Amino acid sequence: MSSTDKVILVTGGAGYIGSHTALLLLEAGYKVYIIDNLDNSVEEAIERVAKLAGKYRKNLFFYKVDLRNKDQLEKIFSMVRFDAVVHFAGLKAVGESVAKPLLYHENNLIGTLNLLDLMNEHGCTKLVFSSSATVYGQPKSVPCTEDFPLSATNPYGRTKLFIEEIIRDVQKADPEWSVILLRYFNPVGAHQSGLIGEDPRGIPNNLMPFVQQVAVGRLAELSVFGTDYPTRDGTGVRDYIHVMDLADGHIAALRKLFTGAKGCSVYNLGTGRGTSVLEIVAAFERASGKKIPLKFIGRRAGDSSEVYASTEKVERELHWRARYGIDEMCRDQWNWARENPWGYRAPDSMQQSVESSRF
Ligand code: NAD
Ligand code: WQD
Repeated sequence: MSSTDKVILVTGGAGYIGSHTALLLLEAGYKVYIIDNLDNSVEEAIERVAKLAGKYRKNLFFYKVDLRNKDQLEKIFSMVRFDAVVHFAGLKAVGESVAKPLLYHENNLIGTLNLLDLMNEHGCTKLVFSSSATVYGQPKSVPCTEDFPLSATNPYGRTKLFIEEIIRDVQKADPEWSVILLRYFNPVGAHQSGLIGEDPRGIPNNLMPFVQQVAVGRLAELSVFGTDYPTRDGTGVRDYIHVMDLADGHIAALRKLFTGAKGCSVYNLGTGRGTSVLEIVAAFERASGKKIPLKFIGRRAGDSSEVYASTEKVERELHWRARYGIDEMCRDQWNWARENPWGYRAPDSMQQSVESSRF
């Protein structure tokens, strides 16, 4: 069976990472069914994926479904036989998860339980799950290797930790299951076309979208959280990874599953290099030609000083490594921002309400 015959369910495929991955899956010849409740995304993103996919657009399907609605989800599983699932759908804002823990546990855990149950029922036993470096908590050292102790510092992180454990249990109970847990570090950037990218609702929580919105004039200045960390310039260091590299990591994971990988494996998706807040700002200024006004304030609660990935295991076992550096990440982030200063929507546009469509 070539990838052309394979059918992949992509949950959360209208979102930032899901849309970029859906495009690469289509280009690799897979048939892609996206389900998304559009809670943090718009259907326009899927339309743009279809446009970019060109001749492969006929292999893209979208259903507006909430994973918590098991009846609707069951209908899709009864209709299509999936060869594998890539599970992105979930809520991801750390601060919001602290304020609304039940919402996060309900959405992320119930959604995943429904999905796993239906996969079991319908004999679909190949899964790639979007985990996060957040499961390393505040790591005691860097680089983070996959066997570091796991912990969570907020409810969002706890949902990732719980889901990882639930999936491990499911796989242990039925060795037919083969699963890859991918722990993303800090995804940034956009597809080189500038047609798809990250479009957060409200004030961004993460550094790169915040910097982008300052550059296009939507926000006045960037607050730098902490200048007294034991790092090169005192600001926090993270492992930023281009979203196209990240998307490519999912292709590598599926390839591994389809070539007979067994069990439940976990891999970091990062570059293995750390970059400070001030280095990101400088790179973005170079890429955009815009000055980013800064305000230096105190540390953000719960932040680590320095987090970056060990990429040894993923390079060795999935034969994947990130290709892009910070300059390319900023170039593509700026390209997306310049073309779409308000994201997918005009400032006052309404949410779309299409139930399902075929492209
Ligand atoms: P995103 O919010 O852009 O995409 C998630 C998508 O899931 C959205 O389109 C949303 O509408 C959908 N969704 C949420 N709950 C749903 C539900 N109950 N039913 C159906 N659809 C639902 O986020 P993203 O940045 O693309 O992240 C994708 C995944 O990767 C998430 O699981 C996230 O936790 C994880 N992750 C993201 C990052 C990051 O920094 N972006 C880092 C590590 C891990
Ligand atoms: C990066 C650096 C901040 C905003 C978060 C989640 C994690 C994962 C990725 C999902 C830090 C500094 C930020 C700002 C700043 N997501 N910063 N001013 O905290 O590494 O990780 O996103 O799984 O779970 O916690 O990313 O982009 O928020 O911060 O100075 O306005 O930028 O202090 O050093 P983080 P981030």
